[in-house]
Amino acid sequence: MSTITSLQKIAYQRIARELLQVEQVRDMNRYIQHGNTSTLTHCLVVAYYSYRLALRLPIRFQYKSLIRGAILHDFYLYDWHIPDKSHKLHGFVHPRFALNNAKIYFNLTPIEEDIIAKHMWPLTIKNAPRFKEALLVSIVDKFCSLAETLYIPIVPKEVAQIQQL
Ligand SMILES: [Fe+2]
Ligand SMILES: [Fe+2]
Repeated sequence: MSTITSLQKIAYQRIARELLQVEQVRDMNRYIQHGNTSTLTHCLVVAYYSYRLALRLPIRFQYKSLIRGAILHDFYLYDWHIPDKSHKLHGFVHPRFALNNAKIYFNLTPIEEDIIAKHMWPLTIKNAPRFKEALLVSIVDKFCSLAETLYIPIVPKEVAQIQQL
C-alpha cells in the first residue's frame, strides 16, 4: 500500500481521538477480542486499514463515517470468551449491542449505523451491507480478526500512537 499522507494520518487520528474522549469507548480496552488484542485496538486497527484501503480504491468513500463506524463496530462491552446466556450467540447478536451502545453516546450517520449493524455479514446472512463503507469494513474486519487470532502483529504506528496518550 502506498504511504498514507501526513494529512490523512492526522485526519484518522483526530477522528479516533474524538471518539476516545468518551470513557465507554476507551472501556473497549478492558476486553480481549482475539489472541492478545484488545477490542479497542482491534477496532482502531480495522478502522485504520479500512481507511487505507478506501484511499487506494478508485471510488470515493465517506471517509469520516467509514472511520467512525469502524471504530465503533465492536462497541458491545463484554468479554465474549466468558460464557453468558445474554450473548450465547455472540457472533449474531453483538452488532446489535454495539449499535445500541453507539447510539447512546453518538449521533450516527446512516453509513455509521450500517457499518456497525452489518459487519458480521455474511454470517448474518439476511443483514447485507447497504453502503460500500459497510462492505469494506466487514471484509477488513475478517482479515484483521484472522491475523489477531494467529498472533500476527498488524498494529500500525498510527494506532499505537493514539493509544499511548
Ligand atoms: Fe464484531
Ligand atoms: Fe471486529
